[in-house]
Amino acid sequence: MDPITIPGRVITLRDMRPDDAAGAWAIVGDDRVTQWLSFDSRDQAAAVAMVEGTIQRAQLIPRTEYYLAVANAADRMIGFARLGLTGHQAAKLGYAIGADHWGHGYATDAARTIIDYGFNVLKLHRITAAIGPDNAASVAVAERLGMQYEGRLRDHVHTNGAWRDSLLYSALAPEWSPAAS
Ligand SMILES: CC(C)(COP(=O)(O)OP(=O)(O)OC[C@H]1O[C@@H](n2cnc3c(N)ncnc32)[C@H](O)[C@@H]1OP(=O)(O)O)[C@@H](O)C(=O)NCCC(=O)NCCS
Repeated sequence: MDPITIPGRVITLRDMRPDDAAGAWAIVGDDRVTQWLSFDSRDQAAAVAMVEGTIQRAQLIPRTEYYLAVANAADRMIGFARLGLTGHQAAKLGYAIGADHWGHGYATDAARTIIDYGFNVLKLHRITAAIGPDNAASVAVAERLGMQYEGRLRDHVHTNGAWRDSLLYSALAPEWSPAAS
């Protein structure tokens, strides 16, 4: 299957490559980032394995995961955005940006771009994001994109040594209006 490249407004989403390992480790090996994710920080070998596993799963037919690098203008991986397909025309959304690159609108652009792809190309109907209750930056991203708050999932993930609730946000295809964000 040909690698995917999806241009956003300021970033590009693309399939991961082996040379993304260092960029991936700068994200998933950083406690500033992973304290908000559903997994603990990973060492370098685990980051390499993550990239290799992602590249392999991208080849599966049918494809059930779109785990894409967020690339900057220099084509360096500075974050990731992921749609994990679940059930019928539905997907779970995840995203992260390396801490040194926060505050430039990259997550908003990455999430907008992958949701747009999910609805327009993959023909999904529903996309959800489960966000830690204290994660104000991620809540801001979801709300800026017009995602709707649905409720609180109790003890939804076990991360950083403790159970954590999640706030569930969703976007539905008939409501989706990327131009508004
Ligand atoms: C959440 C995250 C992806 C945002 O990345 P980013 O590229 O800095 O996001 P953006 O610049 O597109 O937007 C951030 C928004 O959060 C707001 N924000 C940032 N820090 C904030 C804070 N502490 N409190 C409230 N709002 C905050 C910004 O003002 C901005 O909102 P605006 O566009 O309405 O002004 C990034 O912080 C991150 O990687 N965090 C760790 C991983 C994570 O939480 N992933 C999501 C899991 S659900």
